[in-house]
Amino acid sequence: MKSIALLHSTIRGDEKLILEAARRKDVDMKIIDVRTEVLDPYRYEADFDLVLERCISTVKGTHATRFYEAIGIPVINSGTVAAICEDKFLTSLTLLKHKVPTVEFVMVFSLEQALKAIRDMGGFPVIFKPSLGSWGRLLSKVNDIDALETVIEHKDVLGSPQQKAFYIQRYVEKPGRDIRSFVVDGKAICAIYRDSPHWITNTARGGKASNCPITKDLSKISRQASDAVGGGILAMDIFETEEGLKINEINHTMEFKNSEAPTGVSISGAIVDYCIQTLKKL
Ligand SMILES: Nc1ncnc2c1ncn2[C@@H]1O[C@H](COP(=O)(O)OP(=O)(O)OP(=O)(O)O)[C@@H](O)[C@H]1O
Ligand SMILES: [Mg+2]
Repeated sequence: MKSIALLHSTIRGDEKLILEAARRKDVDMKIIDVRTEVLDPYRYEADFDLVLERCISTVKGTHATRFYEAIGIPVINSGTVAAICEDKFLTSLTLLKHKVPTVEFVMVFSLEQALKAIRDMGGFPVIFKPSLGSWGRLLSKVNDIDALETVIEHKDVLGSPQQKAFYIQRYVEKPGRDIRSFVVDGKAICAIYRDSPHWITNTARGGKASNCPITKDLSKISRQASDAVGGGILAMDIFETEEGLKINEINHTMEFKNSEAPTGVSISGAIVDYCIQTLKKL
């Protein structure tokens, strides 16, 4: 019988929910701790047929995904999807290419270019964020030229080479909240509003989650964005703007444990169902 491996770097509440859902559905799910694996392409013996990649560490998750795909074991999400979603600049470029409404963005490498780009974009405020990053870390709302100079100098002097590439987004006026939609195989299965008095609305930063109904527009943009980046299991951050919904970014190893209660949807169950369907097609 074919089986699935849950690949992790720590069993969080989210992974516990997935494992419980698998047990409920009588699915054989092996648990693999990526930290104890030897990814030796000459000797690796896999007793599973599909990997569900759930590592907290993007670096470990990415390397492991490349390894399993190279030795012929498919991974959810695929390496191609992960490569796009882990990089905000590449996500933005991909969405734009596929005509999916997204937040205006630009990439520059110096203060002069940043100033020109911000002027062309319509002026301050703008958002600086690491192209590779999560949990709202190192996000900066830059309100004026003084702040711009400071942020760029700090990145230039203190930052890693990666921080010397400045991914800048237009600041979007939100109604005190944004939307996170949970998308499995192109279908938005549920969504939450994240309300916060702070402009960063992540639940990891104190945003409050409540159920967000899946409207036609939300369903449509979720499917478009999923198709653009290559499908799989995705969480999308979406802004409500005067011009309609816009995708902010897409997460490929999503956290969802605090969203099952407000939405009443078993996200973990949907993840396991998608793994079963994928396994059947192998
Ligand atoms: N351009 C923007 N305009 C207005 N608010 C923004 C903008 N970009 C980000 N935010 C706010 O900051 C939050 C975090 O941004 P983003 O999702 O891009 O960062 P992140 O570090 O990838 O977070 P996570 O991985 O937890 O989703 C968003 O949910 C939103 O509330
Ligand atoms: Mg986000």
